[in-house]
Amino acid sequence: MPGVEAAIEVRDLRKSYPASRGAGGAIDAVRGIDFSVARGEIFGLLGPNGAGKTTTVEILEGYRQRTAGAVSVLGFDPSERPRELRARVGIVLQSSGIYAHATVAELLAHFADFYPRPRKIDQVIELAGLAEKRDQQARHLSGGQRRRLDLALALIGDPELIFLDEPTTGFDPAARRGAWQTIRSLRELGKTVLLTTHYLDEAQELADRVAIIKGGRILAEGSPAELGVGAGSRYRVAYANGNGELTIVETDDPTRLLNELTSAALARGEQLNALSVTRPSLEDVYLELTSDA
Ligand SMILES: Nc1ncnc2c1ncn2[C@@H]1O[C@H](COP(=O)(O)OP(=O)(O)OP(=O)(O)O)[C@@H](O)[C@H]1O
Ligand SMILES: [Mg+2]
Repeated sequence: MPGVEAAIEVRDLRKSYPASRGAGGAIDAVRGIDFSVARGEIFGLLGPNGAGKTTTVEILEGYRQRTAGAVSVLGFDPSERPRELRARVGIVLQSSGIYAHATVAELLAHFADFYPRPRKIDQVIELAGLAEKRDQQARHLSGGQRRRLDLALALIGDPELIFLDEPTTGFDPAARRGAWQTIRSLRELGKTVLLTTHYLDEAQELADRVAIIKGGRILAEGSPAELGVGAGSRYRVAYANGNGELTIVETDDPTRLLNELTSAALARGEQLNALSVTRPSLEDVYLELTSDA
């Protein structure tokens, strides 16, 4: 959007971790990436283990120093850890474990104090699906419930920008749907979300745009739908012939192909069983781009 400052700007970002004793040489975890996230957008970072997602997110959160490049988060340089920025950002780290004996409600009350205009504690507990665990000690929560608490803690300050590093890992299917609903409701409130996930259906459901990264470089970027049909990917038409054998044809022009196939079948007085037209899913594109072959 012209004239509107992006929520996040990343230019030629690089991060090298120094060589450590016994663990070989330096690691170039991020090797020059560029992207920007508009205000109100849900942006997904996808990529295999070790791709550089968490490194990138932690630099944007101000938890890690970059080696080179420029980043701007709500107009601030996060490496300077400005106070104002911290009050406007919510974070779900990939791994956390700061709490034990405090209860869900106590923890939320504690973290609410850091923010100028926190949300109501019980509202956030409800949103995260933790109503029944409100007065349970955090150490007695299940893995998935602890992750819901992480999400609740990220939302307590009513932040305008939320970083979610694999927020739904360990969630059961119903809890995942619940979290998706919560994340969608953030979009309705005009919040900006930077999300990493290994669940490509989650990215497809939630993200306005995604970047696929591997080896510290961005391989592709766009809306999930654009990535599906872009990059030379085609439509796939499948049908079973009279003997029940499945035939799969790839085409750029499914209208014409279907017309030909169905006319020929009708002329023969046959049915095309199990007929389907599909586009490559985000998962197909992801696997093709990130495969080592
Ligand atoms: N503190 C660190 N010191 C040294 N190397 C690190 C450190 N943190 C990460 N790395 C390395 O940087 C690379 C990128 O790691 P990162 O955690 O950013 O990956 P990721 O994309 O988040 O992976 P995952 O999907 O497994 O969470 C990896 O090779 C990792 O071993
Ligand atoms: Mg990670």
